[in-house]
Amino acid sequence: VSLAAYNTFRFAYHAEYFAIAETLDSLKKLLAWANHFNQTVTMIGGGSNLLISADVTGLVIINRLSGINAREHRGNLVSLTVAAGENWHQVVAFAVQEGWFGIENLALIPGTIGAAPVQNIGAYGVEIKDVLARVQVIDKTSGDVYWINARDCGFAYRDSYFKGKWKDKLLITSVELSLKKQADLLLSYGGLSDRIEGKPSLASVFKLVCDVRSEKLPDPTMLANSGSFFKNPIISQAIHSDLKVRFPNLVSFPFEDGFKLAAGWLIDQAGWKGKQYQGVGVYEKQALVLVNYSEENAEPLLELEAKIKQSIFELYGVELEREPVQLPLTPLIETGHVEA
Ligand code: EPU
Repeated sequence: VSLAAYNTFRFAYHAEYFAIAETLDSLKKLLAWANHFNQTVTMIGGGSNLLISADVTGLVIINRLSGINAREHRGNLVSLTVAAGENWHQVVAFAVQEGWFGIENLALIPGTIGAAPVQNIGAYGVEIKDVLARVQVIDKTSGDVYWINARDCGFAYRDSYFKGKWKDKLLITSVELSLKKQADLLLSYGGLSDRIEGKPSLASVFKLVCDVRSEKLPDPTMLANSGSFFKNPIISQAIHSDLKVRFPNLVSFPFEDGFKLAAGWLIDQAGWKGKQYQGVGVYEKQALVLVNYSEENAEPLLELEAKIKQSIFELYGVELEREPVQLPLTPLIETGHVEA
């Protein structure tokens, strides 16, 4: 089966075996089948944060588990339990319609609920970890289903154990969000605060985020892409001071003990914005996004990535790190162990 329709870069690699899981029960059966025939299992949600760069051996499962359940507690909290295959933006729109606060800044992020914790999606000052209570998972080998508290998932900027040490072991089946009934808006992010007039409502913030994103980011159904292709690099105070001397207009934000740089700015200033390379390129309105105009094969994109990384390193001495998850999943290599 071609995976072209299942990744927003639209690369046309194949899955050896392919299935769509609509219920937890059918997912369990698929895992049992894969175990019996010793096949690796790869799960895809919306495919909007994926870089598929070769055919995928074993079984690829599209996660279409569905269902939303809300529990309003006494006081301020609402627990929203959502099956992993639900569309993220539709859940945001639903919460806003109900008047529940917490995820409005994360409007219009493509992809599914189940994929959201993997890279700890974030935008405009909010990350999913801020509103996540727990994550339900299924163990690929045993088929056991259980909940993990959000604080145990290793969340960091665009990172979690689901992307790291758990990537070959666990699949996300459901997510429980903890939302608020009383107004609690986060409006401090530069791109938002500049455009707010008066006292904004939940619905107006939701709309503003949708507007800002539509202006800057390409709609993956119109132009193939996977959102930000690189993470914003985190650097020390010392390196930041040196860079600031050489590049007085450098865009950066204090982050933990150091600074986070706007990778889009670095790439833009290096002259890459709008550049095309074979059938791929750097998006003309946001240099952090790589787009695919016409390629079926990831090679040109990987070459463009290497060129950008090298150019950014030469100019600023900063190493860019890729943001989307690469498929096929590479074998887990734990530091300190050498596999024979
Ligand atoms: N900038 C440029 N040129 C560009 C792009 C950006 O100069 O081509 C500058 C902007 O002027 C701005 C700064 O860089 O001062 C930051 O830009 P922006 O607010 O657009 O955000 P970003 O750092 O490029 C990050 C996330 C986005 C998220 C936005 C808003 C990462 C890797 N990306 O982008 O997430 O929507 O902030 O919060 O952290 C994604 O992960 O796929 C994604 C789109």
